[in-house]
Amino acid sequence: MVALNFSEVVGSPSSSQKLINLLRGHTAPLPATHVLRFNTYPFVSWLTSSSRRWPNTSLLPTSILEKASQRVFHSAAINPALLYGPDDGDEKLRVQLASWFTTFFPHCSSVKDRICITGGASQNLACLLQSFTDPLYTRNVFIVSPAYMLAFRIFQDSALSLRAVPEDDEGIDVDFLQQELKKSDKTAGNNDSCLKPDRPWGKVYRHVIYAVPAFSNPSSKTMTLKRREELVRLAREHNALIIADDVYDFLQWPASLTAESLSLDKAILPRLVDIDRYLDGGTEREGADGFGNAASNGSFSKIAAPGIRTGWCEGTAKFAYGVSQTGSTRSGGAPSQLAATFLAEALESGELQRHVYETLQPSYGIRYQRMVTAINEELIPLGVRLPQTDRDVVGGYFIWITLPDPLKGAVVAQRCRDEENLAVAQGEIFEVPGDTDRKGTHFENALRVCFAWEEEDMLAEGIRRLARVIRKIQAEQNGSEKNPEATSTATATEETAKDFW
Ligand SMILES: Cc1ncc(COP(=O)(O)O)c(C=O)c1O
Repeated sequence: MVALNFSEVVGSPSSSQKLINLLRGHTAPLPATHVLRFNTYPFVSWLTSSSRRWPNTSLLPTSILEKASQRVFHSAAINPALLYGPDDGDEKLRVQLASWFTTFFPHCSSVKDRICITGGASQNLACLLQSFTDPLYTRNVFIVSPAYMLAFRIFQDSALSLRAVPEDDEGIDVDFLQQELKKSDKTAGNNDSCLKPDRPWGKVYRHVIYAVPAFSNPSSKTMTLKRREELVRLAREHNALIIADDVYDFLQWPASLTAESLSLDKAILPRLVDIDRYLDGGTEREGADGFGNAASNGSFSKIAAPGIRTGWCEGTAKFAYGVSQTGSTRSGGAPSQLAATFLAEALESGELQRHVYETLQPSYGIRYQRMVTAINEELIPLGVRLPQTDRDVVGGYFIWITLPDPLKGAVVAQRCRDEENLAVAQGEIFEVPGDTDRKGTHFENALRVCFAWEEEDMLAEGIRRLARVIRKIQAEQNGSEKNPEATSTATATEETAKDFW
């Protein structure tokens, strides 16, 4: 067993080519004591790609945050900023967010009472489970898959059972979900008792549904309006809470590869939380308990900086209050209090919104154009497929690639690293652990590539390298030449990944 540093193992140590990292792009420090049990590239690849997504550092709003922090430090706001904050978070930030959301999202009329400040989407996902689920009563977390893999452990920490729900080109497969919800509700089991005490500010939902409805990580898909509405209706019928990781919503641009203006200051689809507010009588309809069935889990990680560890959660006012009463928040007040005051300043001045519209959207948009143009030229002729090719608006950090049969993502990813010093993520790491047997829940023929980190000029070259590997494997297969090394690599990757879960 050898202790390894990520920076040593992301690419191929023997390659003369510069590493191109379309996997995530940066090295994350391992804990000093961390010892890899498998000193093998497949394992390291899997572990590396299971890390968080990182924006290119040239896109960080350093000076905006510096100026905002100066304004806080040189005003009376500094004292509350350095003390414990209110449970629901910095009021100015809640007001600023509500006003931005109302102009950005269609059918949105957000107010501060619907918003609670969080320590980011991951931290708040754990808080939502702590406050609104119970290991005895809550039956399942239905996860739209392929899925953001770092959420899996958060669900497991809450002792919930994980179930995969496939998606098609419109988003979540609601027919499948409906069947499974019905089956689950019918099975004998606990209907009454909860481990958690009765709490007037909270409620316990029967099911959780986890989705990334816009520009998803990893599938890059956007859920259509029809599916969003169907999903909200289904959640209401089955006492389910939809947790929508709305972390990429602001990172959007026109899909056209020749579009010159890549800035869009309005979303085209309402969030699930807004649909829940207005659809069929909304959250205050007769017979409803006012908690609602959808929560928007937002984050500054993608629109400001991940190190700022601040986000927001929006739901009904009753729901937002419940979030603010989570034990760890009730003790110390909302997390990230100091950072929240900087962000409130940056929003009040309009600088952060301008950063999103004038820097992030055009920069990611250009990167997207370069990558997709290269994919169209190099990969589509080889039989590779992309999802949702008819969209007007695209966004996020990723492109999901379906390989032509019989190519396997693990083999392609391994050979990309070994032969081309190119890092890409194989589809299997986005499978819901323990639920991969049914159609649409395993992704051995897929890859995810990220355009957010690697230098813009390297993106097309990365795709060319990927194409070379695919062409080589296809030529070998056509010549009926088996590559035993590649085959054994794939097996090892699957085994080590499962072992680690
Ligand atoms: C879907 C999704 N949710 C949550 C996160 C993490 O958000 P945060 O940094 O706010 O915890 C990410 C980051 O990669 C993500 O892609």
